[in-house]
Amino acid sequence: MNEVSGADKGAVVITGASTGIGYACAFHMDRLGFRVFAGIRKESDGRSLIERSAGRMTPLLMEVTDSASVLAAADRVAGAVGSDGLAGLVNNAGIVVAGPLEFLPLSELRKQFEVNVLGQIAVTQAFLPLLRHARGRIVNMSSIAGRVAFPYLGPYSASKYAFEALSDALRIELLPWGISVAVVEPGDVATPIWKKSTAAAQETARSFPAQAMDLYGHSLEAVTKASEKTAAAAFDPVHVARAVEHALTAANPKTRYLVGSGVRLRAILKKMLPDRLFDRLIIRHIGLPGR
Ligand SMILES: NC(=O)c1ccc[n+]([C@@H]2O[C@H](COP(=O)([O-])OP(=O)(O)OC[C@H]3O[C@@H](n4cnc5c(N)ncnc54)[C@H](OP(=O)(O)O)[C@@H]3O)[C@@H](O)[C@H]2O)c1
Repeated sequence: MNEVSGADKGAVVITGASTGIGYACAFHMDRLGFRVFAGIRKESDGRSLIERSAGRMTPLLMEVTDSASVLAAADRVAGAVGSDGLAGLVNNAGIVVAGPLEFLPLSELRKQFEVNVLGQIAVTQAFLPLLRHARGRIVNMSSIAGRVAFPYLGPYSASKYAFEALSDALRIELLPWGISVAVVEPGDVATPIWKKSTAAAQETARSFPAQAMDLYGHSLEAVTKASEKTAAAAFDPVHVARAVEHALTAANPKTRYLVGSGVRLRAILKKMLPDRLFDRLIIRHIGLPGR
């Protein structure tokens, strides 16, 4: 994998850049003149990034749940940027674990947190010395699911709530060094995550006892249908990339970026409505059985 230097805006590391939001962010930042280190897990993804970039993009092999891999990636970036340090870190890599909590294997819940929470902190710890050098910025990819928990998406929502809490703490802890921490909270974005999560949920469901389908089969069908409808109306990840751009470059970055139509309304309703009334809205929206 080749490394080319010479961009003006400094270097950024973006995790999970093989597809979706991370991919859109990588090319958006590349076009803006950042030197992008694009996190990937497969060499083949690195090759296709290089083919499509203007020549400055550097694929960076990094499995966020593997400390050795994260430290090796940080070493590699340190060697490439030297005393210039890092202008930004976009903690974007993520997965969705879904299913009824009554039957979900705890190993699945652990996997969700290993990637979406612990992985993000491991990466942040490894790259903070480089960020401190350049007074860089951290952008954490949360979700509207970090403010509103959806049934059968409990593990994913829990991981994003946790990520929001850690981001709030980190924002204050890093103030003395002027390192800004922003959280991006997109709504429904058109990326491969929808198909991947449906396939993963179906795979997990294979391990459930037959009773699980008797109890939850109807609800899971409704959730799958609602999710297909939402995915079909999802918006282009470039809108998320623009929010990330603001968080990385604006003189006064926001602490939170809600992105997408309807997300602000969802966040307000969640805050204002009594829990049971909000639950009813969700139940009606998905078409779940009530009592
Ligand atoms: N799509 C949405 O509607 C939406 C909405 C709100 C927030 N988000 C958040 O946006 C982020 C990106 O999601 P996306 O929608 O763009 O999904 P995506 O296309 O599936 O991208 C996920 C990325 O994360 C990488 N990844 C997964 N596990 C990893 C691991 N253990 N180590 C390193 N990289 C890993 C994937 O790499 P591989 O290709 O190697 O698996 C991929 O590059 C996630 O944090 C997600 O929660 C998405």
